[in-house]
Amino acid sequence: MAPSVKLPVPLFEGAQSLESALYCRRSRRNYICKPLSLQKAGQMLWAAGGVGKSGVAGSNRTFPSAGATYATEIYLAAGNIEGLEAGLYRYVCTEHSLEPRYKGDIRSGLSEAAYGQMFIAEAAASVLLIAVPQRTIRRYRERGVRYIYIETGCITQNIYLQAEALGLGTVCVGAFDDNRIRQLIDLNPEEEPEMIMPIGAYS
Ligand SMILES: Cc1cc2nc3c(=O)[nH]c(=O)nc-3n(C[C@H](O)[C@H](O)[C@H](O)COP(=O)(O)O)c2cc1C
Repeated sequence: MAPSVKLPVPLFEGAQSLESALYCRRSRRNYICKPLSLQKAGQMLWAAGGVGKSGVAGSNRTFPSAGATYATEIYLAAGNIEGLEAGLYRYVCTEHSLEPRYKGDIRSGLSEAAYGQMFIAEAAASVLLIAVPQRTIRRYRERGVRYIYIETGCITQNIYLQAEALGLGTVCVGAFDDNRIRQLIDLNPEEEPEMIMPIGAYS
């Protein structure tokens, strides 16, 4: 397997206040063809679900999780990122690194699986949120299903706010054909695609 890609150290302070990012947040779909730096891509992934202040792996992330069961895995479908080969990567939060899964640009495939939402193919990359529901359902039974969706929502808002603070665009894409996503990225039956979030410069 190809070696992991270490991401640049994320920043824990930014120029824009949280209040301003909240005020300005909106869904953006008008992406332009401009490469994304590896620093910004890494910053987006850290904000989505990186390890926070105490640095205790699995117990202190940028998002809350029912009973710290952490059902969600974060993937990056890279297309136009400086210094990063196009492909699908899993974000390894404890290492702040990317574990390569597949080579090749899947942005068009994601767009087709999302009923032709073309802007997905135009953004530099997409973050994919993939749940492993049993992690949470094992402990909370039926109620765990609800908890997984709430966890997804927490992560998506992190991504929106970090994108806003970096001057990047993003949008939640929940309308897609699960089976086509499953085939495209070869998910196993225990994994469930929850959200696609394109990220990139916008006009
Ligand atoms: C669960 C969920 C699914 C969504 N799915 C899509 C989608 O498939 N395509 C899309 O363009 N926007 C999608 N959106 C974005 C909404 O259209 C958007 O948040 C809403 O219009 C409000 O606009 P704003 O985010 O700019 O405030 C989704 C949002 C959520 C929360």
